[in-house]
Amino acid sequence: MTERPAPLAERIARRIALLGPMTLADYMSAALSDPEHGYYMGGDPFGARGDFVTAPEISQMFGELIGLWCADIWGRMGVPDRLHLVELGPGRGTLMADALRAARTLPGLRESLQLHLVETSPALRARQRETLRTAAADLAVAPQWHDTLSTVPAGPLLLIANEFFDALPIRQFVRGAGDVAPTWCERVVTLAEDGRTLAFALRPAALEAAALLPPEIAAVTAGGTFEICIPGIALAGEIGARLAADGGAALIIDYGAARPHGEPTFQAVRDHARHEVLAAPGDADLTAHVDFAALAGAARASGAKAWGPVPQGAFLTGLGIDARARALGANASPAQAEAIGAAATRLCDPAQMGTLFKALALTHPALDPPGGFARSGGGGRDGLTLMQ
Ligand SMILES: C[S@@+](CC[C@H](N)C(=O)[O-])C[C@H]1O[C@@H](n2cnc3c(N)ncnc32)[C@H](O)[C@@H]1O
Repeated sequence: MTERPAPLAERIARRIALLGPMTLADYMSAALSDPEHGYYMGGDPFGARGDFVTAPEISQMFGELIGLWCADIWGRMGVPDRLHLVELGPGRGTLMADALRAARTLPGLRESLQLHLVETSPALRARQRETLRTAAADLAVAPQWHDTLSTVPAGPLLLIANEFFDALPIRQFVRGAGDVAPTWCERVVTLAEDGRTLAFALRPAALEAAALLPPEIAAVTAGGTFEICIPGIALAGEIGARLAADGGAALIIDYGAARPHGEPTFQAVRDHARHEVLAAPGDADLTAHVDFAALAGAARASGAKAWGPVPQGAFLTGLGIDARARALGANASPAQAEAIGAAATRLCDPAQMGTLFKALALTHPALDPPGGFARSGGGGRDGLTLMQ
C-alpha cells in the first residue's frame, strides 16, 4: 500500500496541477505559514523533544547578554523615557524573558519599554504570553502582538531577531554555462511523473526575476547557485528607515555567510536531523542561510549604519559571556557548573555555533559601534558584564 500524502503536500500538489510550478519562496511560505497546516502554526518545535534547539534555549546567558546589549544602547541614546522593544519571531519567548530579567538591573529602563512581539503563529503567541507573564509584569504597557513590523508604532526602537530571517522565503537561481552572456535558471517545485509527488525542476529565469538579481551574482560561476530572500531584504530596509528616522538599534543573529558563496543552503530539519526538503511540507522546519551583506546593504540604503557581521562566539565573548558563566557557576552545584560551561562552549566554539552563527547590528547613523562590534575588539565598552 502506498503512503497517503499529508494534507499540505496534497494541497500544494493540487495548486501546482492547476497553476503550474511554484517558486521556492511560495513553497516555503506554504510549508511554514499555511494557516491550517504550516510548520509554525502547529505548536512548539523547540528543544530536545522538538526538531531543533536555538541559542536562548541552550542557556539563559544568551538572552541576558542581549538584554544588557539593549541597556547599553538605551544609555547611548540618552535614556529616552519611551522606547519600543521589538522581537521578531520570539519562539517560546525565552530570549525576551531572560533579556527583561537582565534589564531589571538598570533603574528606569524597564519602565520606559513598550514591548512588541512580531509573531504569526497563534500557538507560539500563547506560549510567549505564558513565558512572559511574570517576566514582563512591570513593563509600562502590556506586550502587544503583531503579524508584521509595519503595525508597530513609530518611535525610538530596539529590535532583536534571533533565527528569524532564516525562516523567510527565498528564491534560488542557478547559473548556466556561458561566461560572456550567462543564462540563469530558477529552481521551482513541480510534480513528478506520477502527478502527485513534489519534485524540483529548473526553468529559465523570468525577466522580472532576473531583474532582481544584484551585482554580487557576477561572482557565481557556471553551475553555482544564488539565493535571494526578498522579504528579508525588504524588512531590513524597513528597519533601517525606522532607525534612521526615530533612532535606536537592531540586532540580527542567524546562521549564514558574510557574503554569498554560490552554494545552495535551502534545507529542512526534523527531529534534530537533516530531512528531504520536499518530503514533508508542514512537518519539517525549512530555512536558508541568511545573506548578511544583502541585509546590511538594504539597511544602509535606507539611511542606517550597519556593523558586522561578527561571529557569534566573538560577539558573546565581547559582551562578557565568560564572566557571566563564572558568576553563574559560582553558585551552582558541580554538575550545574559543568552544564553552564558546556552551554557557553556550544554557543561560542567555532566548531559548534560560534562561527556559522553571526551577529549584525543596524543603528541610527549617529551611534558609535554597539557592544560586541567595536573595531578594535575586546575591552572598553564591549566588556559589558552582568551583575548578579
Ligand atoms: C526558528 S524560530 C526562532 C525562535 C526564537 N527567536 C529563538 O531564538 O528561539 C522562528 C520564529 O519566527 C516565527 N516566524 C516565522 N516566520 C514568521 C513570519 N513570516 N512572521 C512572523 N513570525 C514568523 C516563528 O513562528 C518562530 O517564532
